[in-house]
Amino acid sequence: MRLKDKVAIVSGAGTRGPMPGTGQATAILYARQGAKVLLTDLDLARAEETRASIAAEGGTASVFQADVTSEADCRAMIEACVARYGRLDVLFNNVGGIGAGKVSEIEEAQLDRSLAVNLKGAIFTCKHAIPAMIESGGGSIINVSSIDGLRAGWTPNVPYAVAKAGLAQLTRVTAVHHGRENIRANCIAPGHLYAPFVANISDERRELRRKAGPLGTEGDAWDVAWAAVFLASDESRWISGAVLPIDGGLLAATPLAVYDNLI
Ligand SMILES: NC(=O)c1ccc[n+]([C@@H]2O[C@H](COP(=O)([O-])OP(=O)(O)OC[C@H]3O[C@@H](n4cnc5c(N)ncnc54)[C@H](O)[C@@H]3O)[C@@H](O)[C@H]2O)c1
Repeated sequence: MRLKDKVAIVSGAGTRGPMPGTGQATAILYARQGAKVLLTDLDLARAEETRASIAAEGGTASVFQADVTSEADCRAMIEACVARYGRLDVLFNNVGGIGAGKVSEIEEAQLDRSLAVNLKGAIFTCKHAIPAMIESGGGSIINVSSIDGLRAGWTPNVPYAVAKAGLAQLTRVTAVHHGRENIRANCIAPGHLYAPFVANISDERRELRRKAGPLGTEGDAWDVAWAAVFLASDESRWISGAVLPIDGGLLAATPLAVYDNLI
């Protein structure tokens, strides 16, 4: 029970399937570790699926519909959490995904939408979570970025990449500006996970993603979720402002080292 007595919000706590996403897996582990969890999602039916899994295991969770691209929804989810559970200790900012294209191809509306889903939502969720965390004596914020926010990615995805890079910096400024209020902020940067986000890729591409990493094994949402448990718990009480790749070692490799894995 590493999160006993803690209250957590997980945004994007459902999954677009067919396997658990990082939000769903994290919400399930948070509840298994004793936290009460507010499961927020644009799609309430998806969050409800996660709630049912947690309830079946005897955990405590409830759902709340919120579109993170709306500041009003970001504020409402924090208020709902405090109204239901009396406090807020942990925020897992998980929503993200869209944003294809090279910089020479980007269209304005598409860029605005991607930045809103991947970055603006996390900013406004932090904005409204921090006062509630201060009221609770402090808290832990975990932003879900991507290795594509730290290095130029495999596919052209400039709106996504710059938004994910922004999440790493959001993490650092939050950690610095709110450290004295006992707010910790950390960032998880998943690598080539096999998760809903990429469920439609070909078997060949999936295999290349696995082989490219130094470990040569495939990661999934549970690998992210275990790190999210640690960063939410008091075990990580002296860790703040960090960006943690969860990528099977990929970011440690030079391009030629990765090439060697593929031949
Ligand atoms: N799969 C990967 O390889 C990978 C790699 C790096 C980072 N990530 C990141 O992991 C996170 C989760 O991806 P996933 O594939 O595990 O889950 P996912 O794509 O299934 O998304 C989880 C939930 O987010 C909800 N959602 C989407 N837009 C929303 C909005 N505007 N407001 C509220 N909820 C919304 C969806 O309804 C869905 O239930 C994303 O931030 C993604 O960028 C994934």
